[in-house]
Amino acid sequence: MRKPIIAGNWKMYKTLSEAVDFVEQVKSQVPANDKVEAVVCAPALFLPTLVEAAKGTDLAIGAQNMHFETEGAFTGEISPTQLADIHVQYVVLGHSERREYFNETDEAVNKKAHAAFAHNLVPIICVGETLEEREAGQTVSKVSSQVKAAIKDLSSEQVAQAVIAYEPIWAIGTGKTATAADANEVCGEVRHAIAEEIGAEVAEKTRIQYGGSVKPANVEELLSMEHIDGALVGGASLEVDSYLKLLEAG
Ligand code: G3P
Repeated sequence: MRKPIIAGNWKMYKTLSEAVDFVEQVKSQVPANDKVEAVVCAPALFLPTLVEAAKGTDLAIGAQNMHFETEGAFTGEISPTQLADIHVQYVVLGHSERREYFNETDEAVNKKAHAAFAHNLVPIICVGETLEEREAGQTVSKVSSQVKAAIKDLSSEQVAQAVIAYEPIWAIGTGKTATAADANEVCGEVRHAIAEEIGAEVAEKTRIQYGGSVKPANVEELLSMEHIDGALVGGASLEVDSYLKLLEAG
């Protein structure tokens, strides 16, 4: 039985006081961690404050990116060591916005996944196809190759603990959600790719999220699908009420 994981990805939204206010309101209302894993992936600048604010509660804090090196002369970057040091628990890797605007490659995502595990961070690894790729019938090949590249040379235990987020790029922030059946089919292909790379038993344990215009109105149907174990949510994770409703569906 895979525990659902609902993660908000705040992207470059909110001020520090708005972020703290959100955590203060949400933390006592989060369902128990044995039912659903509740995560908020906030801008790096807010992480130490939010980790402190959420301490001792069932709300976990994640980062949205990190470098794969432990330390070094990489101006403007944040290392896995630094995230682990302030007790961040999750890190989003390979989001399509980072792949598109910051040239994040499959190879870099794989290095980051290794670095995350070396520092006890749970990676939320994003994969997904563009509209052109979908229309050209390339969804499965694109997503499968991204998954296999991302988990290359990870151990079985690590892949079992990893979270993969399937986010079709055409559904992000557009209001267009993949139908639950379509999303489930591709999430099933993600599981199949994991099985091919490392084995079916491990693939059964890995949690696969769907992301792309998830909101309270569609989250229940998406989560009821066989291969969808959670959601990675942008816009609808920014408001307290809506975030709590997403958690209720978990
Ligand atoms: O990572 C979450 C994301 O890209 C989806 O954004 O706003 O469509 O829920 P949104």
